[in-house]
Amino acid sequence: MNLFDVYPVNEINIVKAKGSYVWDDKGDQYLDLYGGHAVISIGHTHPHWVKRIEEQLEKIAFYSNSIRIPLQLQLAEKLGKVSGKEAYQLFLCNSGAEANENALKLASFHNGRKKIIAFSKSFHGRTSLAVSATDNKNYIAPVNETENVIFLPFNDEEALEDCFRENGAAISSVIIEGIQGVGGINIADDSFLKKIRSLCDEYGALYIADSVQCGYGRSGKFFSHDFAGVQADIYSMAKGMGNGFPVAGIIVAPHIKPKHFQLGTTFGGNHLACAAALAVLEVIEEDKLMGNAVMIGKYLRDELETIPQLQNIRGRGLMIGFDVPEELNPLRKNLLWNQKIFTGEAKPNIIRLLPSLALRKTDAEQFIDALKEEIENMVTIPNPAR
Ligand SMILES: Cc1ncc(COP(=O)(O)O)c(C=O)c1O
Repeated sequence: MNLFDVYPVNEINIVKAKGSYVWDDKGDQYLDLYGGHAVISIGHTHPHWVKRIEEQLEKIAFYSNSIRIPLQLQLAEKLGKVSGKEAYQLFLCNSGAEANENALKLASFHNGRKKIIAFSKSFHGRTSLAVSATDNKNYIAPVNETENVIFLPFNDEEALEDCFRENGAAISSVIIEGIQGVGGINIADDSFLKKIRSLCDEYGALYIADSVQCGYGRSGKFFSHDFAGVQADIYSMAKGMGNGFPVAGIIVAPHIKPKHFQLGTTFGGNHLACAAALAVLEVIEEDKLMGNAVMIGKYLRDELETIPQLQNIRGRGLMIGFDVPEELNPLRKNLLWNQKIFTGEAKPNIIRLLPSLALRKTDAEQFIDALKEEIENMVTIPNPAR
């Protein structure tokens, strides 16, 4: 049997990982500033995470949600404390798309409405509603086409006001990433998020904060939406939540009441997933990783600003993007093949940095030195990607 070929891949076989480094089968070491797409939050194979999962595995890995699972409550309590959203309610699932799917569905159950507002360059996942709210026609199958999603320009308060004025009574929810990830690291303005909050309140719609990529401390605050000082009705979470163990969830504001059987899952919130997620929160708290994300993120952005060829350096904490001019197009590939550094990309010509929140200053310095060297080589001798 062959694999179903859905992505272009780099021919690298990673066999070992520790902290911010990974090693391939030839023994070559790579600095990982991509984290398998913002997933590695506390560092690869963190000893506390490994221990927690191993210990849980010896006891019980899985049972379904037909029984009480005290680890879920422990996770909810810890998440409430670390995120500062203690009054919210936790529903656990398995992936970011599933979290958003449940959030959109729950909003519709709650207010009985159908329309969703989403924004240009958004990415919310591949499942049916999540993908319908994603601004990329290539991902939307004919069966997912719907008139229920209204796309508006990102950060355009006037367009948002007009849309609510025209369709207010039909709008169930507004879904927005606090910092767009796949769309190229675009920060939602604080005033825009405040406007969403006030219009949702005025018209009885729910504010869904997609925090799958920009959440879990990556921005330096637990949710990047916190920068605007607003409380969303539902926050979706995934990626960094399990540090690579598949676990996701939504947290739901106290005014939204649960009804039996509206949401459900077989695997979501299993024992092993809870153990992994608890380990992540314990390390984030113990090692003060949100503070580290602020500090190392600032160092990186300040250093990037000193490199004249790079444009539009942006981001918060350890969610950073910058534009690369046309002539430096192969930069990301060259960083990977010549310097052994993984970074992320967004089209066209955007490099994204999504490292572990435990990234050390020495790792960041290594990246900056390597980046300068590559740019210098490319400016003097054109250096096509391998
Ligand atoms: C903002 C955002 N939402 C949702 C998703 C979908 O998450 P998953 O791939 O876990 O389904 C992603 C994935 O990149 C994302 O960046």
